[in-house]
Amino acid sequence: MGPWPNDPQGPQARAIADLYWILFGAAVIVLAIVVGALVVAGLRFRERPGHVARQYHGHNLLELIWTVIPTLMVITFAVLSFQRLTYINDVDSGAAMTVKVHARQWVWTFEYPQEQMFKTNDGYLQGAEELHIPVAQKVKLDLDSTDVIHSFFIPGLGGKKDAVPGRETALWVQADRPGTYKGQCTEFCGTGHADMLITIVAQNQADYADWAGKAVAKANAITDPETKKGQQLFLSLACAGCHTVKGTTAGGKVGPDLTNIAVRNTIAGVLSPVNDANLKKWIGNPPAVKPGTIMPNLGLDQPTIDAIVKYLLTLDGK
Ligand code: CUA
Repeated sequence: MGPWPNDPQGPQARAIADLYWILFGAAVIVLAIVVGALVVAGLRFRERPGHVARQYHGHNLLELIWTVIPTLMVITFAVLSFQRLTYINDVDSGAAMTVKVHARQWVWTFEYPQEQMFKTNDGYLQGAEELHIPVAQKVKLDLDSTDVIHSFFIPGLGGKKDAVPGRETALWVQADRPGTYKGQCTEFCGTGHADMLITIVAQNQADYADWAGKAVAKANAITDPETKKGQQLFLSLACAGCHTVKGTTAGGKVGPDLTNIAVRNTIAGVLSPVNDANLKKWIGNPPAVKPGTIMPNLGLDQPTIDAIVKYLLTLDGK
């Protein structure tokens, strides 16, 4: 992190920030010249008794100057902008890997590439809310949405792209240094919009391989098919957008950490003990159990609830 939270942390953000400062600098210079000329004109050439102002109408040199200079400026800014647009929109060339990003109300989920390091026993690594990328490498993100328009934006890394239902869009991200970069859905998408956070964790090669290895091992540790299904549902539905399960790819920060839910005493502080029946009651309709809770009724069907609860009951923090 630089002195300001949104200092550019990658090449794309830098390209945008540089252009911004060029435009800002030019605007300040133009403002100074125009205001300066106005003040001088007002002081020296204002109307006074016995003084007739000189007339400049039809003055070729002056008209040429104030036509040509702004035209050159506009052309320069247009060229600089198009250069950067081309750079930003070039999602493919030099990309080290492609991650599929799915937006839904109100969570971002990720499908890591079909490469050996992400391979689990029954597919490839998936995640929610927290995206891990290798540092100093261009990573392409393919975006889609299952419901409404969302927008993927990590200010520090630059670039912003809408996720649109029925259409594929793409952007790329690259981080200069290892670190955690925060982002947010920037298209109003319903009541949970403000909670639709994004975290990108950039890691050096060794840490990245280590993280992937552990996440794959954790995914493989579950062998029972229904529990497995529950985990997949947990990660792909809205759950993982709000809740963290340490050691998995669920990193939501809005709701409580569920890493050891199975060995806790209460659910949401109102239902006790933590068991199959109480968990099902809670997930089936949280506001009915605890009026005013921010956890919405997701309208899940019974088999889905059963599978998720089965998975949750395996979470003992170990
Ligand atoms: Cu998704 Cu706002």
